[in-house]
Amino acid sequence: MCGIVCYVGDKQAKGILIEGLKQLEYRGYDSAGIAIQNGNAIQFDRAVGRISELERKISDRAMQGKSGIAHTRWATHGEPTEANAHPHRDRDERVFVIHNGIIENYRLLKKRLETKGYSFRSETDTEVIAHLIAIYFHGDLCEAVRKTMIQLEGTFGIAVIHRDVPGKIVVARRGSPLVIGVGENCHLAASDVSAMVRHTNKVVHLLDNELAILSAEDFSISTVQATPIERSTEIVDWQAEDAELNGFPHFMLKEIFEQPETVRNAIRGRLDYAEGIPRLGGIAPVWDSLKQCRHIVIVACGTSYYAGYVGRYIFEKLTDIDVSVELASEFRYRRINFAPNTFVIALSQSGETADTLAAIREAKRKGASLLGVVNVVGSSIAREAGAGVYNHAGPEIGVASTKIFTSQLTILSLLALLLGRHHSLSLTEGVEAIRAIDALPGQISKVLSLAHSIEAIAEKYYLKSNWLFLGRKYNYPIAMEGALKLKEISYIHAEGYAAGEMKHGPIALVNPEMPTVAIAPKDSVYEKMVSNIQEIKSRRGPVIVVVNQGDEDIKEIADDVIEIPGTLEFLNPILTVIPLQLLAYYCARLLHRDIDKPRNLAKSVTVE
Ligand code: F6R
Repeated sequence: MCGIVCYVGDKQAKGILIEGLKQLEYRGYDSAGIAIQNGNAIQFDRAVGRISELERKISDRAMQGKSGIAHTRWATHGEPTEANAHPHRDRDERVFVIHNGIIENYRLLKKRLETKGYSFRSETDTEVIAHLIAIYFHGDLCEAVRKTMIQLEGTFGIAVIHRDVPGKIVVARRGSPLVIGVGENCHLAASDVSAMVRHTNKVVHLLDNELAILSAEDFSISTVQATPIERSTEIVDWQAEDAELNGFPHFMLKEIFEQPETVRNAIRGRLDYAEGIPRLGGIAPVWDSLKQCRHIVIVACGTSYYAGYVGRYIFEKLTDIDVSVELASEFRYRRINFAPNTFVIALSQSGETADTLAAIREAKRKGASLLGVVNVVGSSIAREAGAGVYNHAGPEIGVASTKIFTSQLTILSLLALLLGRHHSLSLTEGVEAIRAIDALPGQISKVLSLAHSIEAIAEKYYLKSNWLFLGRKYNYPIAMEGALKLKEISYIHAEGYAAGEMKHGPIALVNPEMPTVAIAPKDSVYEKMVSNIQEIKSRRGPVIVVVNQGDEDIKEIADDVIEIPGTLEFLNPILTVIPLQLLAYYCARLLHRDIDKPRNLAKSVTVE
């Protein structure tokens, strides 16, 4: 969603800010803007559409200045127009503000300001912030921001500059991520570390209801009640080149091909062959209660939810724990009674998904213990959960999640195996599972070597406007994930179904124009999948099947076959999903879609 990047230091800010905005492009946006301060002068500009449009607009403007703020907007209040793009300013153009999040009481605040004679230039909720800061400013920008924060309801990450406070930027947050970067002779702030990794890997996370004032030389953090905060810097392990395409045409394809490495990162140093047990340091603080846990509730959204859905089957296979999986966006509306010893596991790539964050807060309130499986170190969900496992998969930039999905499945398998070994699994079973998990990166590379043949299948079907994905048991959520991948990046309508449900309705759709993707590795439900495939074929529906290598029987009935290596049944989804990611990617590419930034979607959904 919206992105913030700020710079104050010894270099010209314009280029640094534009380049920072480009690193945030993947989050999804529809307009962008920038404000640069030079002494008491502030110049600003905004443009609808891509950052390149803003860049073009300001290319012949000097915009000198060594501090500034920049923003990408994903419209919530008001259409994506130049007037609604950030930065917003007060009446006298002294205060410039950029904002992520939603101010829920902005109508009331706006009405109050209008009755005092203020007029508004935009339809946004953000503009009230600029007016309020201007009203409260009497020489101390932090104090003005504090007083404004007290008035605001909702969520915000903001960055503010004021004409009378040159060389300083104030940032503040409640509910929207903001990270400070500590560089050489400079400080940065951004909604996402990827906007800063070219300049520094030293970061400090701002927490809710805190603000910070940055200058080239230093920064200080305080609370909204003006209590000073001392917080040490953390080192992020993301590299600048993680955010580069490195020869791939799209981040999505690059990230699909990174999966041998990201799964390896998820298991590195975590497999103990001698004991047949995984080692997960991040759960140490809760291990004593986790061992006793009898109930697990997995909460997540979108692709992470489907990973959780597979996770349920894995926990059921390897442990004696009752597991349910809940959409985080629905969770708070449920009347859930947590049994004693319940753990809630939140899965989130970004660690900032508003619904998932709200769900774990609700779970905490009701007495559940928390675990996070999160990719972004120091993110809100990681902090709120307090314990958990990081993916260590590097930034995921393509809007469609791919490498995090398989990484989440790997980590859930490790967690379930760890608990299973403390329940009933034998050493032999533990070692067998560890061996199979360890073999996954090599097997993923083999699946990726099929990319060209999967591209050829995409060429055959990409013009079909309705697709069905079918799977059973572990591969039922994979069918849903395959359908989600296809629809979000190619805009083709697709549905993922439990294959057993086909006869209860969707079979009515089957005809020669609707391809079905059937996921049928040789597992405990293989025979039933074969029957489903036959039912579709007898209605002349084309079928693409994902099977294990050497499955000659299925070749005789299916139209197209993708053969992948075999593994233990509960690990199959880590391999079966990859052809579906590639199929979606190639269909979208053939349709000339904007694959890394599909329409209407944002990478990190930080509003409910
Ligand atoms: C789909 C996709 C989304 C995310 C969902 C949750 O490809 O990326 O469905 O999975 O928005 O995001 P995180 O995992 O960041 O909480």
